Amino acid sequence: MNINFEGKRILVTGAGQGIGRDLALRLSKYKGQVFALSKTKKNLDSLAATDPKIRTICVDLCEWDATRKAVQSVLPIDLLVNNAGVAVLAPFLDVTPDQFDLIISVNVKAVLNVSQVVAGSMIERKSGGSIVNISSQASQAALKDHSVYCASKSALDMLSKAMALELGPHNIRVNTVNPTVIMTEMGKLGWSDSEKAQSMLSKIPLGRFGEVDEVVDAVVYLLSNRSSMINGVSLPIDGGFLAT
Ligand SMILES: NC(=O)c1ccc[n+]([C@@H]2O[C@H](COP(=O)([O-])OP(=O)(O)OC[C@H]3O[C@@H](n4cnc5c(N)ncnc54)[C@H](OP(=O)(O)O)[C@@H]3O)[C@@H](O)[C@H]2O)c1
Repeated sequence: MNINFEGKRILVTGAGQGIGRDLALRLSKYKGQVFALSKTKKNLDSLAATDPKIRTICVDLCEWDATRKAVQSVLPIDLLVNNAGVAVLAPFLDVTPDQFDLIISVNVKAVLNVSQVVAGSMIERKSGGSIVNISSQASQAALKDHSVYCASKSALDMLSKAMALELGPHNIRVNTVNPTVIMTEMGKLGWSDSEKAQSMLSKIPLGRFGEVDEVVDAVVYLLSNRSSMINGVSLPIDGGFLAT
Protein backbone atom coordinates (compact mmCIF):
# COMPACT_ATOMS: atom_id res chain seq x y z
CA MET A 1 0.00 0.00 0.00
CA ASN A 2 1.23 3.44 -0.88
CA ILE A 3 0.17 5.37 2.22
CA ASN A 4 0.60 9.10 2.57
CA PHE A 5 -1.11 11.19 5.26
CA GLU A 6 0.40 14.50 4.15
CA GLY A 7 -1.89 17.41 5.13
CA LYS A 8 -3.81 15.25 7.63
CA ARG A 9 -4.04 16.15 11.29
CA ILE A 10 -4.16 12.96 13.34
CA LEU A 11 -4.97 12.56 17.04
CA VAL A 12 -3.76 9.41 18.82
CA THR A 13 -4.73 8.87 22.47
CA GLY A 14 -2.58 6.75 24.76
CA ALA A 15 0.43 7.53 22.62
CA GLY A 16 2.91 7.66 25.51
CA GLN A 17 3.85 4.00 25.30
CA GLY A 18 2.96 0.65 23.78
CA ILE A 19 0.83 0.41 20.64
CA GLY A 20 -0.07 4.12 20.64
CA ARG A 21 3.56 5.23 20.69
CA ASP A 22 4.56 3.12 17.69
CA LEU A 23 1.39 4.14 15.88
CA ALA A 24 2.18 7.85 16.41
CA LEU A 25 5.70 7.35 15.05
CA ARG A 26 4.42 5.45 11.99
CA LEU A 27 1.71 8.01 11.18
CA SER A 28 4.29 10.77 11.41
CA LYS A 29 6.57 8.77 9.10
CA TYR A 30 3.67 8.78 6.62
CA LYS A 31 3.77 12.60 6.86
CA GLY A 32 0.66 13.14 9.01
CA GLN A 33 0.75 15.91 11.64
CA VAL A 34 0.40 13.76 14.73
CA PHE A 35 -0.99 14.96 18.06
CA ALA A 36 -0.04 12.46 20.75
CA LEU A 37 -2.24 12.56 23.86
CA SER A 38 -1.37 10.75 27.07
CA LYS A 39 -1.27 11.05 30.85
CA THR A 40 2.42 10.75 31.77
CA LYS A 41 4.59 13.67 30.64
CA LYS A 42 7.83 11.70 30.77
CA ASN A 43 6.52 9.26 28.15
CA LEU A 44 5.36 12.09 25.90
CA ASP A 45 8.71 13.89 26.24
CA SER A 46 10.49 10.72 25.18
CA LEU A 47 8.19 10.39 22.15
CA ALA A 48 8.78 14.02 21.13
CA ALA A 49 12.53 13.51 21.53
CA THR A 50 12.32 10.53 19.17
CA ASP A 51 10.25 12.46 16.60
CA PRO A 52 10.20 16.25 17.13
CA LYS A 53 7.47 16.67 14.47
CA ILE A 54 4.97 15.04 16.84
CA ARG A 55 3.07 17.46 19.09
CA THR A 56 2.11 16.24 22.55
CA ILE A 57 -0.88 16.81 24.82
CA CYS A 58 -0.66 15.79 28.47
CA VAL A 59 -4.09 15.17 29.99
CA ASP A 60 -5.85 12.55 32.09
CA LEU A 61 -8.69 11.16 29.99
CA CYS A 62 -10.68 10.56 33.19
CA GLU A 63 -11.03 14.35 33.47
CA TRP A 64 -14.03 15.11 31.22
CA ASP A 65 -13.72 18.92 30.97
CA ALA A 66 -9.92 19.06 30.79
CA THR A 67 -9.97 16.42 28.03
CA ARG A 68 -12.59 18.33 26.00
CA LYS A 69 -10.57 21.52 26.31
CA ALA A 70 -7.33 19.77 25.32
CA VAL A 71 -8.91 18.16 22.26
CA GLN A 72 -10.62 21.41 21.23
CA SER A 73 -7.21 23.11 21.31
CA VAL A 74 -5.88 20.89 18.48
CA LEU A 75 -8.91 20.99 16.16
CA PRO A 76 -9.42 20.45 13.29
CA ILE A 77 -8.59 16.75 13.35
CA ASP A 78 -8.99 14.60 10.21
CA LEU A 79 -8.18 11.17 11.64
CA LEU A 80 -8.64 9.92 15.20
CA VAL A 81 -7.38 6.83 16.99
CA ASN A 82 -8.88 6.17 20.42
CA ASN A 83 -6.11 3.89 21.64
CA ALA A 84 -5.71 4.70 25.35
CA GLY A 85 -6.85 1.89 27.59
CA VAL A 86 -6.38 0.40 31.03
CA ALA A 87 -6.60 -3.15 32.32
CA VAL A 88 -6.96 -4.00 35.98
CA LEU A 89 -7.03 -7.72 36.60
CA ALA A 90 -9.12 -9.17 39.41
CA PRO A 91 -11.34 -12.19 39.98
CA PHE A 92 -14.97 -11.23 39.31
CA LEU A 93 -15.93 -11.55 43.00
CA ASP A 94 -13.19 -9.12 44.08
CA VAL A 95 -13.75 -6.28 41.58
CA THR A 96 -14.15 -2.94 43.39
CA PRO A 97 -16.32 0.03 42.36
CA ASP A 98 -13.15 2.12 41.85
CA GLN A 99 -11.70 -0.46 39.46
CA PHE A 100 -14.98 -0.57 37.55
CA ASP A 101 -15.16 3.23 37.30
CA LEU A 102 -11.53 3.59 36.13
CA ILE A 103 -11.79 0.95 33.40
CA ILE A 104 -15.12 2.18 32.05
CA SER A 105 -13.99 5.80 32.29
CA VAL A 106 -10.83 5.33 30.17
CA ASN A 107 -11.93 2.50 27.85
CA VAL A 108 -15.45 3.75 27.05
CA LYS A 109 -16.43 7.17 28.43
CA ALA A 110 -13.26 8.92 27.22
CA VAL A 111 -13.86 7.55 23.70
CA LEU A 112 -17.31 9.13 23.72
CA ASN A 113 -15.86 12.42 24.97
CA VAL A 114 -12.93 12.71 22.56
CA SER A 115 -15.00 11.49 19.60
CA GLN A 116 -17.83 13.94 20.27
CA VAL A 117 -15.41 16.86 20.06
CA VAL A 118 -13.58 15.57 16.98
CA ALA A 119 -16.63 14.33 15.04
CA GLY A 120 -18.63 17.46 15.90
CA SER A 121 -15.93 19.56 14.28
CA MET A 122 -15.68 17.20 11.27
CA ILE A 123 -19.44 17.62 10.72
CA GLU A 124 -19.22 21.41 11.03
CA ARG A 125 -16.39 21.47 8.47
CA LYS A 126 -18.11 18.87 6.24
CA SER A 127 -14.69 17.25 5.97
CA GLY A 128 -15.57 13.61 6.64
CA GLY A 129 -12.98 11.54 8.47
CA SER A 130 -12.02 8.19 9.90
CA ILE A 131 -12.03 7.06 13.52
CA VAL A 132 -10.42 3.83 14.73
CA ASN A 133 -11.06 2.59 18.25
CA ILE A 134 -8.66 0.06 19.75
CA SER A 135 -10.77 -2.68 21.23
CA SER A 136 -9.67 -6.26 22.00
CA GLN A 137 -10.41 -9.92 21.42
CA ALA A 138 -11.69 -9.62 25.01
CA SER A 139 -14.80 -7.86 23.65
CA GLN A 140 -15.98 -11.17 22.22
CA ALA A 141 -14.43 -13.85 24.44
CA ALA A 142 -14.46 -14.04 28.23
CA LEU A 143 -10.97 -14.04 29.75
CA LYS A 144 -10.34 -15.06 33.36
CA ASP A 145 -9.84 -12.12 35.79
CA HIS A 146 -10.72 -9.65 33.00
CA SER A 147 -14.47 -9.28 33.65
CA VAL A 148 -14.70 -5.48 33.60
CA TYR A 149 -12.04 -5.15 30.88
CA CYS A 150 -14.08 -7.58 28.71
CA ALA A 151 -17.26 -5.63 29.45
CA SER A 152 -15.57 -2.33 28.59
CA LYS A 153 -14.33 -3.61 25.22
CA SER A 154 -17.76 -5.06 24.37
CA ALA A 155 -19.24 -1.67 25.17
CA LEU A 156 -16.59 -0.04 22.98
CA ASP A 157 -17.43 -2.32 20.01
CA MET A 158 -21.10 -1.41 20.24
CA LEU A 159 -20.44 2.28 20.85
CA SER A 160 -18.31 2.19 17.69
CA LYS A 161 -21.11 0.58 15.65
CA ALA A 162 -23.58 3.19 16.93
CA MET A 163 -21.08 5.92 15.96
CA ALA A 164 -20.71 4.31 12.51
CA LEU A 165 -24.48 4.46 12.09
CA GLU A 166 -24.90 8.08 13.14
CA LEU A 167 -21.69 9.52 11.70
CA GLY A 168 -21.69 7.56 8.42
CA PRO A 169 -24.10 10.01 6.73
CA HIS A 170 -21.44 12.70 7.39
CA ASN A 171 -18.81 10.54 5.64
CA ILE A 172 -17.12 9.75 8.94
CA ARG A 173 -16.18 6.07 9.17
CA VAL A 174 -15.81 4.36 12.56
CA ASN A 175 -14.21 0.94 13.02
CA THR A 176 -12.45 -1.02 15.74
CA VAL A 177 -9.44 -3.30 15.70
CA ASN A 178 -9.49 -6.16 18.20
CA PRO A 179 -6.00 -7.48 18.94
CA THR A 180 -5.01 -10.60 20.80
CA VAL A 181 -2.19 -10.36 23.37
CA ILE A 182 0.56 -7.90 22.37
CA MET A 183 3.56 -7.81 24.70
CA THR A 184 3.40 -4.16 25.75
CA GLU A 185 3.32 -3.12 29.44
CA MET A 186 -0.39 -4.00 29.41
CA GLY A 187 0.25 -7.34 27.73
CA LYS A 188 2.91 -8.22 30.29
CA LEU A 189 0.45 -7.50 33.12
CA GLY A 190 -1.85 -10.31 32.06
CA TRP A 191 0.36 -12.74 30.21
CA SER A 192 4.00 -12.79 31.38
CA ASP A 193 3.27 -15.82 33.55
CA SER A 194 4.35 -18.68 31.28
CA GLU A 195 1.52 -21.04 32.27
CA LYS A 196 -1.12 -18.40 31.52
CA ALA A 197 0.65 -17.47 28.29
CA GLN A 198 0.73 -21.10 27.20
CA SER A 199 -2.99 -21.56 27.82
CA MET A 200 -3.74 -18.54 25.60
CA LEU A 201 -1.20 -19.53 22.93
CA SER A 202 -2.78 -22.98 22.67
CA LYS A 203 -6.06 -21.33 21.61
CA ILE A 204 -4.50 -19.14 18.88
CA PRO A 205 -4.39 -21.07 15.59
CA LEU A 206 -1.25 -19.21 14.46
CA GLY A 207 0.40 -20.26 17.74
CA ARG A 208 1.85 -16.88 18.71
CA PHE A 209 0.93 -13.50 20.17
CA GLY A 210 0.64 -10.42 17.95
CA GLU A 211 3.29 -7.80 17.26
CA VAL A 212 2.72 -4.07 17.75
CA ASP A 213 3.42 -3.49 14.04
CA GLU A 214 0.65 -5.91 13.09
CA VAL A 215 -1.85 -3.74 14.98
CA VAL A 216 -0.36 -0.54 13.54
CA ASP A 217 -0.67 -1.89 9.96
CA ALA A 218 -4.40 -2.59 10.42
CA VAL A 219 -5.04 0.83 11.97
CA VAL A 220 -3.18 2.58 9.14
CA TYR A 221 -5.35 0.72 6.61
CA LEU A 222 -8.60 1.66 8.39
CA LEU A 223 -7.55 5.31 8.67
CA SER A 224 -6.61 5.49 4.99
CA ASN A 225 -8.82 5.84 1.92
CA ARG A 226 -7.87 2.26 1.00
CA SER A 227 -10.71 1.22 3.35
CA SER A 228 -13.18 3.83 2.08
CA MET A 229 -16.23 1.49 2.12
CA ILE A 230 -15.44 -0.13 5.48
CA ASN A 231 -17.58 1.25 8.29
CA GLY A 232 -18.81 -0.27 11.55
CA VAL A 233 -16.59 -3.35 11.59
CA SER A 234 -14.64 -4.93 14.44
CA LEU A 235 -11.50 -6.42 12.91
CA PRO A 236 -9.82 -9.17 14.95
CA ILE A 237 -6.01 -9.18 14.84
CA ASP A 238 -5.84 -12.39 16.74
CA GLY A 239 -4.26 -15.16 14.66
CA GLY A 240 -7.68 -16.82 14.51
CA PHE A 241 -8.45 -16.92 18.27
CA LEU A 242 -12.02 -15.69 17.80
CA ALA A 243 -12.65 -18.07 14.91
CA THR A 244 -12.37 -21.16 17.08
N1 LIG B 1 -1.38 -5.19 24.93
C1 LIG B 1 -2.37 -6.03 24.70
O1 LIG B 1 -2.24 -7.26 24.89
C2 LIG B 1 -3.66 -5.53 24.13
C3 LIG B 1 -4.54 -6.47 23.53
C4 LIG B 1 -5.74 -6.03 23.02
C5 LIG B 1 -6.08 -4.69 23.07
N2 LIG B 1 -5.23 -3.79 23.65
C6 LIG B 1 -5.64 -2.38 23.71
O2 LIG B 1 -4.68 -1.61 22.99
C7 LIG B 1 -4.65 -0.29 23.52
C8 LIG B 1 -3.21 0.09 23.85
O3 LIG B 1 -2.72 -0.82 24.80
P1 LIG B 1 -1.17 -1.03 25.12
O4 LIG B 1 -0.96 -2.48 25.23
O5 LIG B 1 -0.33 -0.22 24.22
O6 LIG B 1 -1.16 -0.43 26.62
P2 LIG B 1 -0.04 0.37 27.42
O7 LIG B 1 1.32 0.00 26.98
O8 LIG B 1 -0.43 0.19 28.85
O9 LIG B 1 -0.31 1.89 26.98
C9 LIG B 1 -1.54 2.50 27.29
C10 LIG B 1 -1.48 3.98 26.97
O10 LIG B 1 -2.74 4.55 27.37
C11 LIG B 1 -2.49 5.69 28.16
N3 LIG B 1 -3.52 5.94 29.18
C12 LIG B 1 -4.01 5.07 30.08
N4 LIG B 1 -4.87 5.71 30.91
C13 LIG B 1 -4.91 6.99 30.51
C14 LIG B 1 -5.60 8.14 30.97
N5 LIG B 1 -6.41 8.10 32.04
N6 LIG B 1 -5.40 9.31 30.33
C15 LIG B 1 -4.56 9.39 29.27
N7 LIG B 1 -3.88 8.34 28.79
C16 LIG B 1 -4.05 7.16 29.41
C17 LIG B 1 -1.17 5.39 28.84
O11 LIG B 1 -0.64 6.61 29.26
P3 LIG B 1 0.76 6.78 30.04
O12 LIG B 1 1.80 6.83 28.97
O13 LIG B 1 0.57 8.03 30.75
O14 LIG B 1 0.89 5.58 30.93
C18 LIG B 1 -0.40 4.71 27.73
O15 LIG B 1 0.24 5.65 26.90
C19 LIG B 1 -5.57 -0.30 24.75
O16 LIG B 1 -6.82 0.21 24.44
C20 LIG B 1 -5.68 -1.78 25.08
O17 LIG B 1 -6.87 -2.09 25.79
C21 LIG B 1 -4.03 -4.18 24.18
